[in-house]
Amino acid sequence: MQYFSLILLCGLVSYSARAAPVTGTSPSGRGIVPRDGPTSDAATSQLSAAQQSSLVRPAQFSRVAYCSSAAVTSWSCGPPCDDIGKGVEVIQAGGDDGLVPMYFVAHDPIAESIVVAHQGTDPDNILSIINDAQILLKDLNSTRFPSAGDSVKVHDGFQKTFERTADGVLSGVQRGLAANNVNKVVVTGHSLGAAIAVMDAMMLKEILGSSVEITTTVFGLPRGGNEEWANFVDQTLGSSLTHVTNQDDPVPILPPRLIGYQHPQGEIHINAVDGNGDATDIVACPGQENENCSEGNNILFDHSVANHAGPYIDNISFGGDACPL
Ligand SMILES: *[C@@H]1O[C@H](CO)[C@@H](O)[C@H](O)[C@H]1NC(C)=O
Ligand SMILES: *[C@@H]1O[C@H](CO)[C@@H](O)[C@H](O)[C@H]1NC(C)=O
Ligand SMILES: *[C@@H]1O[C@H](CO)[C@@H](O)[C@H](O)[C@H]1NC(C)=O
Repeated sequence: MQYFSLILLCGLVSYSARAAPVTGTSPSGRGIVPRDGPTSDAATSQLSAAQQSSLVRPAQFSRVAYCSSAAVTSWSCGPPCDDIGKGVEVIQAGGDDGLVPMYFVAHDPIAESIVVAHQGTDPDNILSIINDAQILLKDLNSTRFPSAGDSVKVHDGFQKTFERTADGVLSGVQRGLAANNVNKVVVTGHSLGAAIAVMDAMMLKEILGSSVEITTTVFGLPRGGNEEWANFVDQTLGSSLTHVTNQDDPVPILPPRLIGYQHPQGEIHINAVDGNGDATDIVACPGQENENCSEGNNILFDHSVANHAGPYIDNISFGGDACPL
């Protein structure tokens, strides 16, 4: 945990060092004035019990994404699989636990949906962490996203990681939808896996069209692109995107807004978790960057890397420790 924290902070320093050149060459010509998108201080509202419990199943699938491919494929990953229940059929599992983080596509008979779940950055997995450090904003792949405007830019490392599994995810989802006669897809992931999951959902929406209902529920989402990307995500996914942030986790406020990053809307923020690992104060945060939620955290003084792992809700934590099999 300790060195993960160190790497994050070193990363922060190097982000800041790059801030001037990045903004200085921005097409808006605003020199070194930071290109901050809008923030909001709109009042938050407590989630109902039903809204809160709708987050549990996606969280359980995101936790399973940290288990080994073999344990996932046979649905024998111990308590993380048992908590979801029997009858889950894994359609596809991929990744190598390194440069290509693990993911799986499955049929969830209880929710009557196809689930896509992505592994994220495990504090023990240095390769994934280095991967996280490719923070330059690059053009979104316009072949894959023809309806995006030219000014949409995303995190280079996230997009490269997304591209490594995108075709596999798409074919797995298409096979799963056809074979199970369902029209719902749930996309989920934690950390880096959350960033990939949002890109997956955007791709799936673009290709599958409106006859398939796509719900995206992710945890510990870092910022994935610029304000134009955030707006494109809002237009495409709207209120079907939820990103849950936990207390003083620094990851949701990285990379910094100072170098042009901006979140889409849909934050749900956990203010407190009790001794049983259950969120006791969990609120919906209007706007893209709400000062009453993660955006109000002070990264240098208040951050808690432990909050990134969890627990979030229902005693669910993420990472290799949460799924040793
Ligand atoms: C949100 O933030 C604003 C400004 O900081 C504050 O006035 C307001 O009370 C906050 N609302 C909630 C619900 O925390
Ligand atoms: C862009 O997306 C297309 C699929 O639409 C893919 O074949 C291509 O490899 C992607 N380009 C990059 C640079 O990843
Ligand atoms: C919560 O999960 C941890 C393991 O992650 C476990 O050790 C602990 O007993 C659990 N707490 C409860 C109340 O179930």
